[in-house]
Amino acid sequence: MKFYDDINFRDYRHPVTEANLIKFQNLWAKTSMGSKHERAGVTCADCHMAKTKNKAGKVYTSHLAAGPKETCLKCHKDWTEKQAIYTIDSVKKYIKDKIRKSEYGLSKFIDKFEEAKKAVIPEDVLKESRKQHDIAHPYWKWWTAKNSDGFHNPHRARVSLGISIEA
Ligand code: HEC
Ligand code: HEC
Repeated sequence: MKFYDDINFRDYRHPVTEANLIKFQNLWAKTSMGSKHERAGVTCADCHMAKTKNKAGKVYTSHLAAGPKETCLKCHKDWTEKQAIYTIDSVKKYIKDKIRKSEYGLSKFIDKFEEAKKAVIPEDVLKESRKQHDIAHPYWKWWTAKNSDGFHNPHRARVSLGISIEA
């Protein structure tokens, strides 16, 4: 984020608030960085290239997110399959709730900004408040541009969305 600020980088400019907004690349790799799994040396392939059996009983490598039985339970040996599914679901629900809160705040912000422009609020005031959009947008965007709702790094998702909601 600091890097983007320093070079005043943007992918596009928001039509209402004129904040500089960015699109992220290589999301899965970047959001997984520093997660408990990543730090413990668990790789993408551990969860996404599990050995599974086809209908004829032949073992092959699945490139889809195989069921938790073939992935999570390999390492979390004291869990049942139900517990693993519950764990994934509860992380996702918790983070999804934060994503929605952030979106609610963002849309309120944009509406208010529009009102402020119509009310001819001075540019220096708008400029100050535009900075909040610069913060709120990217800290939210990370977690919504992908579909796993923060599962890859629940801790970072929580902190990041907290920053967005606060802004
Ligand atoms: C600890 C296990 C685990 C690891 C490690 C992991 N994933 Fe996932 N990933 C999952 C689970 C579980 C889901 C499905 C979440 C859901 O139900 O939506 C998922 C979903 C996905 C999806 C589809 C949903 C989305 O986010 O758009 C992609 C793509 C993906 N992972 C890529 C990666 C990449 C790339 C890495 C390595 C940098 C990685 N995953 C590491 C467990 C893992
Ligand atoms: C290759 C082994 C491996 C696989 C596969 C794996 N995990 Fe883990 N998991 C670990 C290790 C190691 C830790 C870290 C333990 C620690 O640091 O406390 C961990 C930690 C976790 C945590 C705690 C993370 C946190 O941020 O507090 C959860 C939740 C979790 N795993 C869920 C899952 C789920 C769900 C799956 C299947 C989609 C899965 N794991 C697949 C090894 C694995």
